[in-house]
Amino acid sequence: MWRMSVAPMMDWTDKHCRFFHRLLSQHTLLYTEMVTTGALIHGDVKRHLRFEAQEHPVALQLGGSEPADLAQSAHLGQQWGYDEINLNCGCPSERVQRGAFGACLMNEASLVADCVKAMVDVVDVPVTVKHRIGIDKIESYDFVRDFVGTVAEAGCEVFIVHARNAWLKGLSPKENREVPPLRYEVVAQLKRDFPRLTIAVNGGIKTDDVVQQQLNQVDGVMVGREAYHNPWWLASWDALYYQDGSIERSRESVEEQMVLYMEHEAREHGTHWYSIARHMLGLRNGLAGARRWRQVWSDHKLKTLPPHEVMKLARTKPVQAEALSL
Ligand SMILES: Cc1cc2nc3c(=O)[nH]c(=O)nc-3n(C[C@H](O)[C@H](O)[C@H](O)COP(=O)(O)O)c2cc1C
Repeated sequence: MWRMSVAPMMDWTDKHCRFFHRLLSQHTLLYTEMVTTGALIHGDVKRHLRFEAQEHPVALQLGGSEPADLAQSAHLGQQWGYDEINLNCGCPSERVQRGAFGACLMNEASLVADCVKAMVDVVDVPVTVKHRIGIDKIESYDFVRDFVGTVAEAGCEVFIVHARNAWLKGLSPKENREVPPLRYEVVAQLKRDFPRLTIAVNGGIKTDDVVQQQLNQVDGVMVGREAYHNPWWLASWDALYYQDGSIERSRESVEEQMVLYMEHEAREHGTHWYSIARHMLGLRNGLAGARRWRQVWSDHKLKTLPPHEVMKLARTKPVQAEALSL
């Protein structure tokens, strides 16, 4: 299940994005954005957890550090049909640190173990952890090895490891995805030391060559930004990584299915197509006319048109569009 996955990304991997990614790959595991226990316990559960049956397999990522709250949230996640509950121990944002969860939890392996145990006790689906290889300037391998060892003892069998440290002070979350160096060898070492655990690697992976190299060393690869910006890459994953070449896709057929989905979402939930289309803007990257296609689908002046009309415009040649005073 963890061979290929698309990373949890706040504001990006919402249900619309996941529906889109699922059209591109049947087998890739998809993660939600992080949902905090507070949002689930005090907020609008349906708004945070609703998803389409077609999205499976889909994992709910939780943010929190109170075992009882996490257990309650994990249970809700299972009730809503998620295939996995994942705990975020990798996010370095200050807001998350103030809530004392995310990457700073790597300093508290026994608390993470308590959190995992509390969740494992109340759900049947796998409880997994996403974390970094260290925090701040701690570069010793023992630190991450002991973290994984302690958390595994509590019942977590799957670790998704972002192969760089999180620097909790002085870097923005964005810089924390770019500045601390990638050290894939640490993740490979974890797999060697814990052969029975499932270990997936994350961070900076953009090509099939690197995916293949990683799959020779670890069990899975999680891709974040590259999957979002160049989604058509996903369309080759079923054949390449799951030996399933059964579905023939074209960018056009995916766009058409997205238009049907936009119409369905508007009818059933009042969702505007604009908040769905933003996730598919990279679909034609690399093709002639990609820029114009992207401009049409992101043109707020077209917001009043129904999505099938927008698709028509996006597909017309620039000269014709000029005549239509686009
Ligand atoms: C916009 C954005 C939002 C993110 N939000 C989350 C999040 O909610 N939870 C999480 O664990 N990681 C989050 N991440 C980190 C990614 O899951 C991933 O670990 C990171 O981008 C490195 O992978 P990549 O180099 O393939 O993008 C986010 C990344 C981005 C770009």
